[in-house]
Amino acid sequence: MKFFIDTANIAEITDAYAMGMVDGVTTNPSLIAKEGRGFQDIIKEICEIVDGPISAEVISTDYDGMIQEAGKLAKIHDNIVVKIPMTIDGIKATKTLTEEGIKTNVTLVFSPLQALMAAKAGATFVSPFVGRIDDISSDGMLLVEQIVEIYGNYAFDTQVIVASVRNPLHVLDAALIGADIATIPYSVLSRLASHPLTDKGLKAFLDDWKKAEK
Ligand code: G3P
Repeated sequence: MKFFIDTANIAEITDAYAMGMVDGVTTNPSLIAKEGRGFQDIIKEICEIVDGPISAEVISTDYDGMIQEAGKLAKIHDNIVVKIPMTIDGIKATKTLTEEGIKTNVTLVFSPLQALMAAKAGATFVSPFVGRIDDISSDGMLLVEQIVEIYGNYAFDTQVIVASVRNPLHVLDAALIGADIATIPYSVLSRLASHPLTDKGLKAFLDDWKKAEK
């Protein structure tokens, strides 16, 4: 299973990369806006740190605009994956970009049929947003199960990125279902490493060591 980090923050990416936990990076306009720096500069810097797929999202909502932006983004680095919103224009753009050899990540996916369309358009990745589905009292991980099953039925190559991850259980469920990737915010990634019994056990070892005759 691959871990992507869901952030545009260079310090977080650098730290998680040092742990060996970053196989790729996903960004979105909201994450970029939080950093208060230029989009291209941030994306270039991320590409220098991480050798893996780096998702950068288009802002245009029409087909022509998406294609134009995607061309510019793809020129930044070979590892760029163009993130395209799941709309009719987005699906058309995904088809064209796939034909041109540009990698895509179809984002804002909330139903299995949207994911099926993304795969049929040739998307490299699809991003179901599990946390936002949970937020409206529905079951985000059920969507991931359905997508993984459908893609398995027809041997689609599109890889499933579990996105909008809000807690460690989302990562556990993604792994149990067999999703290809979870894209994880830094705060959740840190929590994956923690367990109160680890902390308690370590403290006991160190206390005993201090007491022992040496
Ligand atoms: O990268 C997109 C996605 O992970 C957004 O997450 O928490 O804003 O729903 P969230």
